[in-house]
Amino acid sequence: AEPSNGAKIFEANCASCHIGGGNILISQKTLKKEALSKYLENYDSDSIQAIIHQVQNGKNAMPAFKGKLSHEDILEVAAYVFQNAEQGW
Ligand code: HEM
Repeated sequence: AEPSNGAKIFEANCASCHIGGGNILISQKTLKKEALSKYLENYDSDSIQAIIHQVQNGKNAMPAFKGKLSHEDILEVAAYVFQNAEQGW
């Protein structure tokens, strides 16, 4: 199947650090469900919004994407991350 727009945005902007839903810089802070629940603020109450917040603002060694990606692209990549976290990458 054609990769979704979210998948393309992830490959182009995120996979360099988060290939396979991992984290090459801080190995425990992956994009897997258990790690998001443990480390990402508000993930349990509002998962997509919590991912959007992280992407817009960045954190520590992760760059901010606000102004680099459109709001729609950020929404689509956040939905892609959430779906893969639910499905287990
Ligand atoms: C953490 C998503 C790009 C480095 C995270 C987290 C999310 C996320 C959801 C929280 C994970 C957790 O706490 O378990 C994304 C998305 C990206 C992206 C969707 C593309 C739009 C990048 C890039 C880098 C990077 C390019 C490396 C240059 C990191 C680091 C953390 C992190 C170091 C841990 C931050 C901390 O808590 O200190 N990312 N990321 N990310 N990401 Fe990204």
